[in-house]
Amino acid sequence: MRSKLVVGNWKMNGSRAANAELLSNIVAGLDGASAACAVCVPCVYLHQTQELLAGSPMKVGAQDVSDKACGAFTGEVAASMLVEYDCQYVIVGHSERRAYHMETSELVACKAEAVLRAGMTPIVCVGETLEERDAGQTNAVVSEQLEAVLKLLDEADVAKLVVAYEPVWAIGTGKTATPAMAQEVHAALRAQLRAHSAEVADTVPLLYGGSMKPDNAKELMAQPDIDGGLIGGAALKAADFLAIIHAAR
Ligand code: 13P
Repeated sequence: MRSKLVVGNWKMNGSRAANAELLSNIVAGLDGASAACAVCVPCVYLHQTQELLAGSPMKVGAQDVSDKACGAFTGEVAASMLVEYDCQYVIVGHSERRAYHMETSELVACKAEAVLRAGMTPIVCVGETLEERDAGQTNAVVSEQLEAVLKLLDEADVAKLVVAYEPVWAIGTGKTATPAMAQEVHAALRAQLRAHSAEVADTVPLLYGGSMKPDNAKELMAQPDIDGGLIGGAALKAADFLAIIHAAR
C-alpha cells in the first residue's frame, strides 16, 4: 500500500516573521503518527525553513528549478543549490509556471531530470484548464504532460517521481474536483504509468491539488488512486494544513 504524502506550496507568499510563526505552529502540531509532509517555499526562505524544520518530520521543498547545472542563466536556481538547503522535493511544471512562464512539457521533463540527478524528488504537476475540460480533453492534456516526462526518464527514475494532478480551474478558486472526478483522472494517470512500467505504477504517489481544504481532504484522499495532496491556500494556515495532514493518516 502507498503511504500518504501532503505537500504545501506557499507560492509567492510569506515573510520572515510570518514564516517563523507558521512553521513553529505546524511543527508543534505534528506527532509521530503524522503522514509524510513537506513545505515548498520561495527560494529566499529555504535557509530559514531548513533551520526551523531541523529535526522535525516536515521536509523542505522548492517550487521550481533550472534545468541547467550552472552558468550564465541570470535569475535561475540550480538543483545543486537546492540540495544545500536540505530540499527533498521540488515542484516542476506547476500550471502557474506553464501559463505565466511558457514552460513546455519538454522543459518540465528536463527540470524533473535535473532534480533527480541532484538526488531530490520532483513533484511533476499536470492539469487541464476549464476550457480543455469542457471540450472533453482532460485525459489527453494530462497524458501529454506526463508522457513528456516518461519519455525522458528511465524506469528507475520514474519510480522516484511524485505526480500531482491539479485541475487549473480548481486552483485558488474554491472549486474542487469531486472525489469521483479526481479519482477518474488519477486512475488514468496510473494506467499511463502502468503502460510505461507495471513495476512502478503502483508505487508512484499521485497527489491531488486544487482547493483541497480540511473539509474535503479526507474524502478526496480516501479515493483509491489519490495518495495525498498538494496544498496552496490552506498550507498558509497552520490549523488547516495540520488538519489536512491529520486527515491523511
Ligand atoms: P490551492 O490549494 O490554493 O487551490 O492551490 C493549489 C495549488 O496550486 C498547489 O500547488
